[in-house]
Amino acid sequence: MTIQENISLKKYNTFGIDVTAKRFISVDSVYQLQQLLKVEKNIFLISGGSNMLLTKDIEKLVVHINIKGISIDSEDENNVYLTVNAGENWHEFVLWCVGNNYGGIENLSLIPGNVGTCPIQNIGAYGVEVKDTITKVEALEINSGKLVEFSNDDCKFGYRNSIFKNEVKGKYIITSVSFQLTKNNHLLNTSYGAIETELASKEIKKPTLKDISDAVIAIRKSKLPDPKEIGNSGSFFKNPIISKKQFFGIQKEYPKIPSYAVSDSEIKVPAGWLIEQAGFKGKRFGDYGVHTKQALVLVNYGNASGKEIHQLAQKIQEIILQKFGITLEIEVNVIS
Ligand code: EPU
Repeated sequence: MTIQENISLKKYNTFGIDVTAKRFISVDSVYQLQQLLKVEKNIFLISGGSNMLLTKDIEKLVVHINIKGISIDSEDENNVYLTVNAGENWHEFVLWCVGNNYGGIENLSLIPGNVGTCPIQNIGAYGVEVKDTITKVEALEINSGKLVEFSNDDCKFGYRNSIFKNEVKGKYIITSVSFQLTKNNHLLNTSYGAIETELASKEIKKPTLKDISDAVIAIRKSKLPDPKEIGNSGSFFKNPIISKKQFFGIQKEYPKIPSYAVSDSEIKVPAGWLIEQAGFKGKRFGDYGVHTKQALVLVNYGNASGKEIHQLAQKIQEIILQKFGITLEIEVNVIS
C-alpha cells in the first residue's frame, strides 16, 4: 500500500478525462482501508469511475477501491445469496452469474462500473433495477472506521437514487454488496420493447438468462458508445418526471413524444428524446459532443476537458428549459 504522486486519472474514469491526482493509493482490502482511514480522512474515492465527470485536478488523497472477491453466503432450493466485494467489475459479475444460471441481473449486462457503486445510483436498464436483488450493503464509516450494514430498506432506493447520494453522501465507503438471485423459476424481464424485438429476430421463444444477457449486450452496443473507444459516462441526465398537465401541453405540439407512466399525476419522459428534438444529437464541438446514436450520452472523443463537457451539459439544460419548460437533472457526479 504505497502512495503514488501526480498520477493521471485518465484510465480511472470512463469519460477518459485527463486530470491529475496529487496523491493516489489503491487499496485491496477492508483492513487496508481501515488502516488508511486512521491517518487520512480527507479522501476522494474512485472505483470504476463510470459515473463521474472530473473537471479539475484532485487535491485530496485519491483512494482507488480495488477490493475483489465473490462469496456464496448460502443457498436454498430456489435462491443463492452472494456477497461481492466493491472492486469487482459489474459486467464481469453479471456474466459470472449468467454462467452459473443465477438470475436477476441479466438485464443489467454491460453497464460500466464496479459492484461497489451499483447501489449508489441504483443502476437500472431494460425494466430492471439493481435494488430488486440487493439484500444489504456493507460500508465503512469514514469518521469512525467502523463497518456498518445497510439493509435494502435502509438504502432508500429510488430511480437512479439512494441514501448514498443524499443523507449519507461522502460519509461511507461501500466495501461489499450482497445479492439474492434465483437458481430456477427465473423472473425473466423481457417486456422492454427492444429486448422483445432482439429475441424475436433470433427466433428465441423461451429465452435463457444468457439469451437475455446477449440481447441486452447487442442493444447496448448498437446505441451506447463503448467507453474504451469513446469516453462517456452513460446517461448524463436523468429522465425527467413531469406533471401530466405539463406532459399533455407538450404532447399537443409534439404528438410523438415517448413517455412512461409513473403515477396518477406524473409521467416520465426520455431526456434523450428532448435533447434530440433540441437539435443536439450527434453534435460535435472539438473533442466533445453528444453521441450520434443516443442523445442522453455526452462523449469525449479524446482530449476534451471535464469543464468543456460540463459547459455543454449546462447549455443543453438551458435550451431544454427554454424549449419545453423542463429542468433536466444531471445524473453523473460532476466533480468541480
Ligand atoms: N430517444 C430519442 N432520441 C435519443 C435517445 C432516446 O428519441 O437520442 C427515445 C427513444 O426512441 C425511446 C426513448 O427515448 O423512445 C427511450 O430511449 P432508450 O430506450 O434508449 O432509454 P433512455 O430512457 O434514453 C434509460 C436509461 C439507460 C438505460 C435505458 C434502457 C436513464 C437516465 N437512462 O435510457 O441507462 O440503459 O433506459 O433501460 O434512465 C445509464 O443510466 O447510464 C443508462 C444508459
